[in-house]
Amino acid sequence: MQSMSLDPAHPTPDPAADAATPSPQRESALSRQSQPVPRAIPAAPERTLGEPRVRNAAITNRNVSVYYGAKRALFDIDLDIGRHEVVALIGPSGCGKSTFLRCLNRMNDTIDGCRVTGDIQLDGQDIHSPELDVVQLRARVGMVFQKPNPFPKSIYDNVAYGPRIHGLVRTKLETDELVERSLTRAGLFEEVKDRLKASGTSLSGGQQQRLCIARAIAVQPEVILMDEPCSALDPIATAKVEQLIDDLRKNYTIAIVTHSMQQAARVSQRTAYFHLGRLVEVGPTGKIFRNPEHQLTVDYITGRFG
Ligand SMILES: Nc1ncnc2c1ncn2[C@@H]1O[C@H](COP(=O)(O)OP(=O)(O)OP(=O)(O)O)[C@@H](O)[C@H]1O
Ligand SMILES: [Mg+2]
Repeated sequence: MQSMSLDPAHPTPDPAADAATPSPQRESALSRQSQPVPRAIPAAPERTLGEPRVRNAAITNRNVSVYYGAKRALFDIDLDIGRHEVVALIGPSGCGKSTFLRCLNRMNDTIDGCRVTGDIQLDGQDIHSPELDVVQLRARVGMVFQKPNPFPKSIYDNVAYGPRIHGLVRTKLETDELVERSLTRAGLFEEVKDRLKASGTSLSGGQQQRLCIARAIAVQPEVILMDEPCSALDPIATAKVEQLIDDLRKNYTIAIVTHSMQQAARVSQRTAYFHLGRLVEVGPTGKIFRNPEHQLTVDYITGRFG
């Protein structure tokens, strides 16, 4: 059966048209035959292919949909984020990767007109439960953005701010220790230990991003969400952050959005491929890149679109 295109920009061709009797239109179509004919984009599958569920998940998502006003941006997403694994979220621009990531710590609540439905659980607890404190949730599920966004404060205070407001530290000594530990885990301490009072914004882009990671770590999260954390960084800074992500996996669960196939392959154990708000396919990263099941996934990873 021929699959139908959902994309109005890529209508499914009518097979009958090819068999039509010659006509002026048909002739001009024949004369264009030497040009490559754009292939129709296949439809997303009814149900996600692969393995959306894992044992011992840190976060489970069931039937998660997101609407911006009347526009639906995500369709019934089922996806587990396994403990101590890095899950890469990939797909063409606008497919809903950031929207999905923001579901996991209720950052979509901060967007006017955005509505999330479905069931999302962190360690078996409904994150939309009225008993759950959303500030606490965002400490447990931290976020690192595409553009490094240190506070206009010292390096030290960037890291100390969260633990102070969450009451995780009481004394100067405790704060010093937590700041050093967080900066060390973020692979930054050695580079900044002599200038902790300097502004966070005085650091290089890559250092700023590692400072933001230290800031997320300092409030002792379980999960770290990263939305294209390296896209504003040069290759050396990117390599450092990628190495860091690999180290962090021992202690944290990570979901990372990336446009780089190489990055997804280097840092993640599972990869989830989104297309037009649907989760098409998910599985072990090696399988998704070497042996994807769905044509949409094949097209994306071979660079046919995106
Ligand atoms: N604040 C918003 N208001 C209205 N629509 C939005 C908003 N944010 C995202 N959308 C829409 O939701 C869909 C998914 O967007 P999203 O930003 O999640 O995609 P993405 O996969 O992260 O894309 P990119 O790779 O470009 O960052 C798009 O159609 C987008 O236009
Ligand atoms: Mg995005």
